[in-house]
Amino acid sequence: MIIKRSGSRKATPFLSDVKELRRRARASMENGAVTSGYGLDPNAAIEVLQSALATEIVCVLRYTAHAVSAVGINSSEVKAEFEQHAKDESEHMNQIAARINELGGTPNMNPEGLLTRSHAQYTAPAELVEMIKENLVAERIAVESYTEMIRYFAEKDVTTRVMLEGILAKEEEHASDMHDLLVAREGRPMLRR
Ligand SMILES: [Fe+2]
Ligand SMILES: [Fe+2]
Repeated sequence: MIIKRSGSRKATPFLSDVKELRRRARASMENGAVTSGYGLDPNAAIEVLQSALATEIVCVLRYTAHAVSAVGINSSEVKAEFEQHAKDESEHMNQIAARINELGGTPNMNPEGLLTRSHAQYTAPAELVEMIKENLVAERIAVESYTEMIRYFAEKDVTTRVMLEGILAKEEEHASDMHDLLVAREGRPMLRR
């Protein structure tokens, strides 16, 4: 897009000064993907993502543990679902870790303090229906916290927001899967809580 300036001056590119933009991009290269136009405090944004990362790690561990120990009559369908969810959560973990890195942070994968950083809990009940219920609770928490995060990033960090929207859609699907399994097992549409 070209803006015509009045007088004898030549037409100038709309992005006021491409050279200046390039200079600024080079000067702040150490900030990685964060440019001066980044609408949030990068440290605060990274902290938000660290808690999402911890949540995903806990979810990978919980689903993996449940998949391994799911036994009993007709448990194979549930086991397969837990395994698939563990894979999905692992993908989320990688996506979030990569974004933290892009924003100039170091993904915190330290097992120490993991549960205090996570929104979801780690539980490993022995009974299949209890596992499904715990996962449904965890997915509902994930849906709520990702919804909040999406509002936080909003237009200020579109890349992160779009990533979180994709993850949120998957968590909603997970919650729905757990709900369906619960209904199939218990014959009740609602979670007893
Ligand atoms: Fe996830
Ligand atoms: Fe999930």
